Order: sequence, then structure tokens, then C-alpha cells
Amino acid sequence: MGQFIKTTIESNKDRFINELFEFLRIPSISSSSEHKEFMIKTAEYLKERLIEAGAEKAKLMPTKGFPVVYAEKMINPSYPTVLVYGHYDVQPIDPIELWKNPPFEPIIINEKIYARGADDDKGQMFMQIKAFEILNKNNLLKCNVKFMLEGEEEIGSVSLEAFCKENKELLKADIILVSDTGISSMENPAITVGLRGISYMEVEVTGPNRDLHSGHYGGAVANPINILCNMIAKLKDADNKITIPGFYDDVVVLTEEERREYAKIPFDLGNFKHEIGISNINGEKNYTTLERTGIRPALDVNGIWGGHITEGSKTVIPSKAYAKISMRLIPNQNHEKIAKLFEDYFKTIAPDSVSVKVSYLHGGNPFLSPNNTKAYLAASKAYEEVFGKKPLGVRGGGSIPIINLFEEVLGLKSILMGFGLESDAIHSPNENFPIENFLKGIETISAFYNYYTES
Ligand code: BES
Ligand code: MN
Ligand code: MN
Repeated sequence: MGQFIKTTIESNKDRFINELFEFLRIPSISSSSEHKEFMIKTAEYLKERLIEAGAEKAKLMPTKGFPVVYAEKMINPSYPTVLVYGHYDVQPIDPIELWKNPPFEPIIINEKIYARGADDDKGQMFMQIKAFEILNKNNLLKCNVKFMLEGEEEIGSVSLEAFCKENKELLKADIILVSDTGISSMENPAITVGLRGISYMEVEVTGPNRDLHSGHYGGAVANPINILCNMIAKLKDADNKITIPGFYDDVVVLTEEERREYAKIPFDLGNFKHEIGISNINGEKNYTTLERTGIRPALDVNGIWGGHITEGSKTVIPSKAYAKISMRLIPNQNHEKIAKLFEDYFKTIAPDSVSVKVSYLHGGNPFLSPNNTKAYLAASKAYEEVFGKKPLGVRGGGSIPIINLFEEVLGLKSILMGFGLESDAIHSPNENFPIENFLKGIETISAFYNYYTES
């Protein structure tokens, strides 16, 4: 069967890529209100592809935000059901001037597809649809398949919790299958067994009631930007430990044995630094780079603004300064609790020369996947068959906030079969996805269905 799948993928390759290009051309940026109509267009596009692939009941289901694309193929009610999750929204494209090719005009250079969403998650989600199409059209499906494709992952899946709660019956399944993560390299395939949670905050620091002449007032009035920078600096100590009281209280510390196991994951520090052009790394004292992204929490400023930021100079003390700050969480930290600890601490460290507003934008809890379930073993065999090497279970540093909620609301574990590479530059200019990963992804997912349903 493996060979048949491979040949089928090969003979459909051009069509698959053309369709993916059409999908990538629709600018589905969820965070920008001007892109609303494109979000609907993207959802409609997916619905059409699902119908063509042979899915039934394909429809756009409204939520408070962007619609969920739902479709299903029920083969036999007594068979197991796989629920495929993915997201059709993408990150913003700025800084636009750094793209070598326009982000919504996909192009192939050196066997890689360049476009916003080429990997995250349009390219990866499309592999799921194409694997389904091949199996379904060749009567090779021995399970039921449901699709739940959302348009708000990149803005925190804000409407999906309610959607899941309202549609528990519809979403009944045995396992959730997701392609929205990565592998270590083509030589070292991996199954993501952990995702970090996230608490995403926005802060606003206000000083004087209007922008002031920085000569008339400079030196005598608190500058909100200076103050904000000081406050941010206070969030970590010299060892890069986060200073928010109680922040680490619920962190599960790995045993020395577990850390030794974790250290076996192949990782090339030189290459890591080279790829992103840094001369040295930086992080929490006494942890390795893989540990810093996989088993430890983190805090980062994602954006900071205020005052005069356009061309030329303007001498002002701004009235306000802002920052967006995210914290990556690991088991058993709770995103709401952490958001509250952040807010309390941030207000405590504010001098009385300014006032501070803290808002909680969104969040999600961390996720851990078991590595001994039927689904995990099937995924492991599938990677081994296609990549020629047994995959390691690796914890990813990124977040997919809804994965933990699936467990809480639907009682379902997810299996994270991702195929992205570090060099895909997701969320960055020149995001790309190698055609090889796209094709191998389809092959591996097809093999997963095969192993998952064999008795
Ligand atoms: N697909 C990523 C998450 C990811 C990427 C996990 C690679 C593991 C490896 C997802 O689309 C993403 O970017 N999530 C956001 C979540 C946030 C906007 C709530 C993230 O991690 O920043
Ligand atoms: Mn994603
Ligand atoms: Mn993303």
C-alpha cells in the first residue's frame, strides 16, 4: 500500500501544488480587520476542496469570530473516528520590505514554496486534506474522518472553546490529528509530545496627559517609554529567571533521569546560531537550549511602541507607551493564574509618576501527549516508514492553545504530526515549505491512517 500511495502522490503532485497555491493566494490574516472578506473566501475555498475530496456535510459554521469549516466522511459508525484540526488563518506579513517575493504570490525557489502560510498552517493543513482525498477516492479509508478547520488560531482561538462546547456531539471522535508543528530535520523526524501554553498581555503606561516638549519638560517628568523599559527590565534577573512572584510555583521540574533522556534529542547548536545569525545564545541559567524552549517557561516582549516612530525627529516626551508581552508556559502552569500574577506584579513595580493598565489578550494551557497510545504508535510507524528512522518524541516550544482545551472540553488527546523545519521561517518574512516535506507529509499521514486502523 505504501508504494501505491507514493505513486498516487507523485502523479497528482502538480495539481496538489497548484491547488495549494490558490489557497495561499488568499490573504487570510486573522488579526487584521481589513481581511475579513478574505477569511470567508479562504473558508469557502477549503469547503470546495473538501467536497471534491469526497467529504460530506461540508459547511461553514459560524462562530463569534471567523467560521469553522466542518466536513466529515462517515464510513461505518462502528469504525474509529479521526478528527482533523488545522487553522486557515495566517500571521501578519510585516516587515513587508524584507520579503524577497510578495507573501501572497506563492513561488517555488530551490524546491521550496515561499508564501505566508506555506508551512503554518495552510501548507500543513492541505497535506491532511490531500491524504484524506487519496485514501477516500481509492476506498482505502477504514475509519471515519471529520474536519474542523478554524480561522482564529493565530489570534488565540478565541471562539473555538464555545464552538466545541456547543458541538460536542458533532465533534465526537477517538483522536484528534493535527499537522501544525515540526520535525528536528529530515534525518531526524519527530513527533511533538508537548506544547507550551501562553499568556499574552498588553500593557499601557501613561505619564502626562499629552505629549510634552522634551526640552521644556525633559528631566522633570516621568517618560512613559523610559519607565516601561525599566519595568520590563525588572521582569527577569541576572540569571534570566522570571521575577514575577509565584511564577514558577506550578512548574513541573524534570528529574535528572528525564533530563538525560531529553539530552539525547539531536541538536546542533552551531547550526542553530548560524541559521538565525546570532553570535551567542541567551537564556535561563543552567539549562540547555532545547530545555529552554521545551521544558522551561519564557517571557518575551513581542512589540513595544510609543512616541515618535516615523521618519525624522520630533522632540517629545510621549504621554503613553505600550508593549505586548507573552509568557510561554509549561505543565502545570495555568494561563489565567499566570496572567493575574503578571498583572499584580506589573502594577506593583510601577512608580507613582505613571499609571498602568494591563489587559489580558488571550491564552491557553500547556499540553503533554502520551507516547504509548495506539495513535502515537501508528504515527511513529508512519514516520519510520517514510523517513527511514524512528521519530523521537520532542516537546515543541510553540503553542496551539486549543489543543489543551480539546482535552478539557471534548475529552480527546491530540496526535501532533507536523512536518515543518526551523528554516521554514514561520511568522517571519520569506516563510517557506519544502515540496519534499509537503509530499512526505501527505505520505506519512496516509501511512498513519493505515497503521491506526489495522487490527
Ligand atoms: N503552528 C504554530 C505553533 C507551533 C509551531 C508549535 C511550531 C510547535 C512548532 C501556531 O500556529 C502558532 O504560531 N501558535 C501561536 C499561538 C498564539 C498566537 C496564541 C504561537 O505559538 O505563538
Ligand atoms: Mn500553526
Ligand atoms: Mn502560527
